[in-house]
Amino acid sequence: MSSSANRLINRPILATIHTDAFRHNLGRIRELAPESKIWSVVKAKAYGHTLAAALNGLESTDGFALLDIADAQWLREHGWGGRILLLEGLFSQQELELACKLRCDLVVHSEQQVTWLESFVNHSGHPINIFLKLNSGMNRLGFRPEQYRTAFHRLHSAGYHLHHMTHFANADQVDGLPSVGEQMECFDQAIEGLEAPTSLANSAAILWHRNALGDWVRPGIMLYGVSPTGMHADIVRSEFQAVMQLRSEIIDIQELKKGDHIGYGGCYEAPEDMRIGVIACGYADGYPRHAEDGTPVWVDAADVDGGSVICPIVGRVSMDMLTIDLREAPKAKIGSVVELWGNEVPVDDVAQMSGTIGYELICALAQRVPVIIK
Ligand SMILES: Cc1ncc(COP(=O)(O)O)c(C=O)c1O
Repeated sequence: MSSSANRLINRPILATIHTDAFRHNLGRIRELAPESKIWSVVKAKAYGHTLAAALNGLESTDGFALLDIADAQWLREHGWGGRILLLEGLFSQQELELACKLRCDLVVHSEQQVTWLESFVNHSGHPINIFLKLNSGMNRLGFRPEQYRTAFHRLHSAGYHLHHMTHFANADQVDGLPSVGEQMECFDQAIEGLEAPTSLANSAAILWHRNALGDWVRPGIMLYGVSPTGMHADIVRSEFQAVMQLRSEIIDIQELKKGDHIGYGGCYEAPEDMRIGVIACGYADGYPRHAEDGTPVWVDAADVDGGSVICPIVGRVSMDMLTIDLREAPKAKIGSVVELWGNEVPVDDVAQMSGTIGYELICALAQRVPVIIK
C-alpha cells in the first residue's frame, strides 16, 4: 500500500513505514507486559507514521489511543471494530454524541467533562467506558487526589463503566521528581476501595517499572522503535525495531578547495580539498535545522568501497537540502541512496545531535514527503 501511489514524484526523498517492525514491536510489548491489555498510542497520526500504517501493522492490539475524534472516525470507517480511547476525552459537549456513536472510551480529567457526561442521555444501548485520570504529581491533566473520589462516584452513579488512570512524569529518568514510586503511592491511596481496572504505564514504565503496569498499558514511542530516553542503546537492548525509514539521494556533488565555505552562513570551512554531497532533504521535509556538523547520514554501500559508510553533515541544513562530507565515500555519486534515519541511522542519534528527542522528529515528518507503507 502506498499513500503516494498516484502522485508524480520527481524528488527522491521517501519515507518507508515497515509494518513488520510494528508487528514485532507489539509482540515485544506483549512479552514485557503479558498480563496487561495494550492501548497502542497513535496520536499525531501514529507519531508521524500514518494511521493507515498503524492499522495495518498493529491490528492485533487491544485498542488504539488517540487525541482527535476525526482519527477515531477514520479508524471506524477503515474497519477497526476494537476499542478506541480518546486520550484527552471531550474538547466540547457536542463531541459526546459522536464519541458515543463511534463507541469511544473517554479519558475524563476535568470537572467540566464530568458535568457534560452527567447530563448526557445515552440511547446507544451500550455503556461508555471512562478512564478517570488522577493527577498523581505530574500536574498536567487530571483530578487532584482529594477531588478524585467525588468524580468517581458521580460518574459511577450516572451509569458509566469506570477505570482508574494516571500518567508518569519521569518513568524514563532515575532521579526525576516526582518519581514513579511517589506517583504510584499517590495513585494507590486515591483509588483505595474503588474497584476498577487500572491504566498507568507509558513506554518508559513498560521498560523499567514492571510493578507499575496496570491492566491496560499505553505504549507510544516504543511501538515505533524509538527510545523514550533518547538513548538508542535502550531500544536495541530491548530488541525493538525502527518502523520509519527516511531515505533520499545525492542530487549534486561539489568539489571544494581548502578554505571554501558551504551553504547559508558559510559555517563550515573545508579543512582540505574535499567532495561534498548535496542531499534532497531539508527542514521543510521535517529534518531538524539545528542538526550539528557531524550528524550521521548513511550512504548506500553499492557505490562505496568497503561497504556502506556514514558521512557526517557539514554546513547548515536548509529548507530543501543538506550537505554531507564525502571524504569517506570516494565512489559516492549523484543518485547514491542515503538514509537520514531508520535502521542504519537511529533517529535518536539525529535527535541528540539536534538538541531534541526522537518523538519530535518522527511526528514532524512533513506532509510533502511521500510515504510508502510496506
Ligand atoms: C496519556 C498518555 N499515555 C501514554 C502516552 C505514550 O507515551 P510514550 O510515547 O512515551 O510511550 C502518552 C504520550 O505522550 C500520553 O500522553
